[in-house]
Amino acid sequence: MKNIIITGASSGIGAALALILAENHNVLLLARNLAELKKLQAQNPRLRVEALDLTRENLGPHLHSIITAHFSQVDILINNAGKLVNKPVLEITRQDMEQVFATNVFGLIETCQVTIPLMKAGAHIVNIGSMGGFQGSVKFPGLSVYSSSKSAVAGFSECLAEELKEQKIAVNCLALGSAQTEMLGEAFPGYKAPVSAAEMAEFITDFSLNANRWINGKTIPVSLSTP
Ligand SMILES: NC(=O)c1ccc[n+]([C@@H]2O[C@H](COP(=O)([O-])OP(=O)(O)OC[C@H]3O[C@@H](n4cnc5c(N)ncnc54)[C@H](OP(=O)(O)O)[C@@H]3O)[C@@H](O)[C@H]2O)c1
Repeated sequence: MKNIIITGASSGIGAALALILAENHNVLLLARNLAELKKLQAQNPRLRVEALDLTRENLGPHLHSIITAHFSQVDILINNAGKLVNKPVLEITRQDMEQVFATNVFGLIETCQVTIPLMKAGAHIVNIGSMGGFQGSVKFPGLSVYSSSKSAVAGFSECLAEELKEQKIAVNCLALGSAQTEMLGEAFPGYKAPVSAAEMAEFITDFSLNANRWINGKTIPVSLSTP
């Protein structure tokens, strides 16, 4: 039984992941919407839930106290929280940029900073990227800031894997293609994804639990479709 942290677990892929992983593991869920997290906990009391805004001041010390109240050691961290803004570049505000990068990049990096000291050999960090941030993939108007934040997630993941290789902690980035969630609706209104949140979560579950034996420091496209 592993100790697992999932950020952005209050909806979509994160919520689906939470329910699958909690069948056999200790799972701590983090997101801003505590009421939604508690609904998941009601479905499986093994789930641990805490409200967390990744954009808050002094995230590191706050997150450290939350995590260590539940786990003295962490086996898997799934950095799944994400923020999307869909606007043409000329309309994007500084506030939009700060929200997206604070959530998708700075919050993710600080979550790694807090969690890595609690990890030992064999641990796995899985960062949820996007096909939009995958080099050479098809790009879409309106998603420049979101997609570039996900490119940063991919680059960070590959660099972090290098730093942690002596400790035998693996770091990978999954560049997801479309899965049917609220966020997909914001990015591509009316588009129907070929994969549900639960189906995507099935893949991420298996990858998070097992793939670090074979894969480290990689950004992997996980996509059936364009987008
Ligand atoms: N669905 C797709 O097609 C697709 C494709 C490529 C990549 N992705 C990636 O997959 C991940 C999950 O997305 P999803 O589609 O499941 O979208 P979603 O349903 O909108 O979920 C996003 C999650 O992130 C959390 N979050 C947002 N801002 C946060 C903050 N400041 N602090 C803490 N948590 C925050 C939200 O919770 P609260 O609002 O409760 O905080 C929510 O649980 C994201 O990283 C997304 O970029 C999705």
